[in-house]
Amino acid sequence: MKEKLNVVIVGGGSTWCPGILKSLTKHQDIFPLNRVVMYDIDEERQKPLGEFGKILFKEEAPGVYFDYTTDKDIAYEDVDFVLCQIRTGGYAMRDKDEKIPLHMGLIGQETVGAGGMAYGIRSMTDMIEIVNDVRARSPKAWIINYTNPAALVAYGLAKAFPNEKRILNICDQPVNLLRSYGRLLGRDSREFEPVYFGLNHFGWFTHLYDREGNDLVPVIKDYVKKNGFKPADAEQRDQSWLDTYAVVADMLEDYPDYLPNTYLQYYFYPNYKLAHLDPNYTRSDEVINGREKRVFEECRRVIEVGTAKNSSVVQNDAHGDMIIEVSSAIYRNTRQTFIVMVKNDGIIKDMPDDAMVEVAASVGVNGPQPYAVGEIGTFYHALMVNQYSYERLAIEAYFEHSYEKALQALTLNRLVNDGKEARKVLDKLIEANKDYWPELK
Ligand code: NAD
Ligand code: G6P
Ligand code: MN
Repeated sequence: MKEKLNVVIVGGGSTWCPGILKSLTKHQDIFPLNRVVMYDIDEERQKPLGEFGKILFKEEAPGVYFDYTTDKDIAYEDVDFVLCQIRTGGYAMRDKDEKIPLHMGLIGQETVGAGGMAYGIRSMTDMIEIVNDVRARSPKAWIINYTNPAALVAYGLAKAFPNEKRILNICDQPVNLLRSYGRLLGRDSREFEPVYFGLNHFGWFTHLYDREGNDLVPVIKDYVKKNGFKPADAEQRDQSWLDTYAVVADMLEDYPDYLPNTYLQYYFYPNYKLAHLDPNYTRSDEVINGREKRVFEECRRVIEVGTAKNSSVVQNDAHGDMIIEVSSAIYRNTRQTFIVMVKNDGIIKDMPDDAMVEVAASVGVNGPQPYAVGEIGTFYHALMVNQYSYERLAIEAYFEHSYEKALQALTLNRLVNDGKEARKVLDKLIEANKDYWPELK
């Protein structure tokens, strides 16, 4: 590979983009840059973040060419790494994903339940277009994708591009959890070697080894059961995230085998969650009034004062750091361990080969080389097969324009379950997504 890299951030107007830009400037020792370009379809939204980036790069990385654009040719020509984080339909549609099911007494969440399926089907057309656009101009670029719902997007892209070897799907929640374990143990999470299995937003840490080979999972379990659980960056988190982490203690009480991903709270305790969610003020409202506002205001302030020194656009640098670190692992062939999504192909026993499972993998120039997981217990296997089947049917519904498969997907989804309810919510989601979904027949 080249001495210095050309990088494009797709979804330049993302609330996470300034944090990624900061991470890029910070990590040039492991990820040297020649050119960084932000690309978005929404010129107006991207502009303040792009102007922030110009100031940041002038101050922190003056040798790096930096720009932002809505022109695909400029964005995708001769790039080495594509960092992809789009939100088809924006927060207006996330709001509907959350509120339509919730008003019916079903969990509505960005990546989970009926709302998650709506978002997944909505994302596919854009994601396929992005991969085609990149490949037309940069056949060898690595596409690092974390666009949500990552489980459905990863499965859909694997189906659309079966011969692709350079798309890496990754989520930051395992890293957030590792950092949170590090905080409670008073240790640096980079020293931990995790063993993890599941599907995206649907998985478990079975072991967590330190450098001396001690498994820290039992220690963490005891600590959480006694003292509760907080995110590593608790001071900067909204209340709903603190509540989410707190539920891990309940999950450990009820299902003590492994350390669960926080998103499992919805599947294990839907009634409890429903009783505590407000259908008129959901996470989308919290983000619109919180993270989105803060990030855009801070970028505007930086533009006004003309310096990005001491700017606070990043709440949680775990996200940006992870993206640059995993890209660097590919670039430098470090073979560090990351938790990523890969085709099962026998990694987890008795799971279908085409499932996009989330597991620990050594990441190097050939991409992720996953570690075998083997047999999982009946409970975990049943949960995963059910969730995989939902994911697969949702994506097949997209490709085949099949109403029947969408209905089957929702019926299998543990957060819908009832066929009549599934049909009702599906019809509402079809109406809400008519500008984005293919017509289901
Ligand atoms: P956001 O709405 O602030 O940003 C998304 C941006 O994408 C917007 O500026 C929008 O105009 C742009 N966009 C939409 N369609 C596009 C297209 N076809 N091409 C180019 N740009 C397009 O959203 P956000 O909250 O910052 O999140 C961005 C994405 O990253 C979401 O999908 C989110 O779920 C995901 N995310 C994933 C993880 C993870 O762990 N997997 C973590 C954080 C964020
Ligand atoms: C976690 C998840 C992501 C999700 C992010 C933000 O990091 O892994 O997939 O996008 O949280 O969620 P929020 O609800 O704060 O937008
Ligand atoms: Mn995620």
